[in-house]
Amino acid sequence: CMVRHYKFNVVMKNTTRLCSTKPIVIVNGKFPGPKIVAREGDTVLVKVVNHVKYNVSIHWHGIRQLRTGWADGPAYITQCPIQPGQNFVYNFTISGQRGTLFWHAHILWLRATVHGAIVILPKRDVPYPFPKPHKEVVVILGEWWKSDVEAVINEATKSGLAPNVSDAHTINGHGPLSSCPSQGGFTLPVKFGKTYMLRIINAALNEELFFKIAGHKLTVVEVDASYTKPFKTDTILIAPGQTTNALLTAHHAPGKYLIAASPFMDTPIVVVDNVTATATLQYQGTLASTNTTLTAPPPQNSTPIATNFTDSLRSLNSKKYPAKVPLKIDHSLFFTIGLGVNPCTTCANGIRVVASINNVTFVMPQISLLLAHFFKITGVFTDDFPATPRIPYNYTGTQPTNFQTMNGTRLYRLHYNSTVQLVLQDTGMIAPENHPIHLHGFNFFVVGRGLGNFNASKDPKKFNLVDPVERNTIGVPSGGWTAIRFRADNPGVWFMHCHLEVHTTWGLKMAFVVDNGKGPNESLLPPPSDLPKC
Ligand code: C2O
Repeated sequence: CMVRHYKFNVVMKNTTRLCSTKPIVIVNGKFPGPKIVAREGDTVLVKVVNHVKYNVSIHWHGIRQLRTGWADGPAYITQCPIQPGQNFVYNFTISGQRGTLFWHAHILWLRATVHGAIVILPKRDVPYPFPKPHKEVVVILGEWWKSDVEAVINEATKSGLAPNVSDAHTINGHGPLSSCPSQGGFTLPVKFGKTYMLRIINAALNEELFFKIAGHKLTVVEVDASYTKPFKTDTILIAPGQTTNALLTAHHAPGKYLIAASPFMDTPIVVVDNVTATATLQYQGTLASTNTTLTAPPPQNSTPIATNFTDSLRSLNSKKYPAKVPLKIDHSLFFTIGLGVNPCTTCANGIRVVASINNVTFVMPQISLLLAHFFKITGVFTDDFPATPRIPYNYTGTQPTNFQTMNGTRLYRLHYNSTVQLVLQDTGMIAPENHPIHLHGFNFFVVGRGLGNFNASKDPKKFNLVDPVERNTIGVPSGGWTAIRFRADNPGVWFMHCHLEVHTTWGLKMAFVVDNGKGPNESLLPPPSDLPKC
């Protein structure tokens, strides 16, 4: 194993997309940012230097951070942000993971432009559980606002209403092919007869996406850095925070084939964002004048396509990569997740859109929760997060009126190595919507999902405890539920939130606090000496 050193200069730079230029915050002058490559077992040191006017922190999304929660990155959860002119070295070891993950800013809405791939190769001489691809290509999906992203969210926060949707989606930083022809788009070159592995990352802020390539099927082999049973599909569904490795065999005659990333949104609230990102798959030997073979992206509300994809995911569960699903459960939790409205005297319409988990709208603390936990500083958080909704109701039926959320910085406490089953239930407050829920510090198994209200006596009988997919971000179906299981084998404070940035901003977030175990390697390490101060 080796130590890998990276330096991230966070800078402001004028950047042109969709034929329009604005200053954006980026790392090392690149959008998307630099790729981190490491092997399983390696230690990674990233020195982040903040040259911009904003506070900054970087999260290594999906890296387990065993005992190194200080390097996890969410601002005010595991660290105080890196202030302008300051720096911090993130230091972590990649243990028991290989595959594709990504890093992104975890403060304000900087993640829109501050993100990049993490490629974790297997240990030397350990093959993939599928034939070695000819080449591997990172494909980062994102979204682009012509206006300043921080201004977009500040405006929305003032009004109490939803922020403007982005102007277009992007593929590896390029806007749609038609959005600014003079700027060109992203081209993926391939050779006939070869197989490629696409490492697809959804780094968009607020949109789940369908990903498709005209005339080609994709074989999914890994999600969120966990191997899956390979399966073939026309369309990949990928939510913000998720990653998918898929094999693509170039089996066609020379030509150009359209690559498309289009939004999936199955909510009755009409959010019009039809700007599909497009790129080109181009075979070697294709003439410049060749027309591109097109593909129609699925309509925005294609729930059956989304469900079919989700239901096809299984963990590989081989001898070498067994699915260690917890069978005995210590904590059985039931969390409602959803949107709501609270009265607001300063808002233009007298209301504010909020989001909550078990009716708690999470309030960010002034110092990091991890510091408060480690040094036993009182008054920063309470550990009384409700295990079930205080007032049960028909979650997906007609909504109770005057249902206000309550504010709090509440955590749920877990003993080291205890096991958790968590049912995430979407609610119809305002409207049902698909929420990609991300848990820091762990992978979890997705043991069940369904539409309507979770039925505690019937639904668990149908759980898959054999080969459920293992991941770190799961789309809870609109007007439905998902059940996950994990083992609390990582001491620290771990954020859990909707990976739609707008919902996190509105309060759809909470955190688990996991106590130290008694064994020699079961406690959180002390904070690094250069940890930023608030
Ligand atoms: Cu990818 Cu808390 O985030």
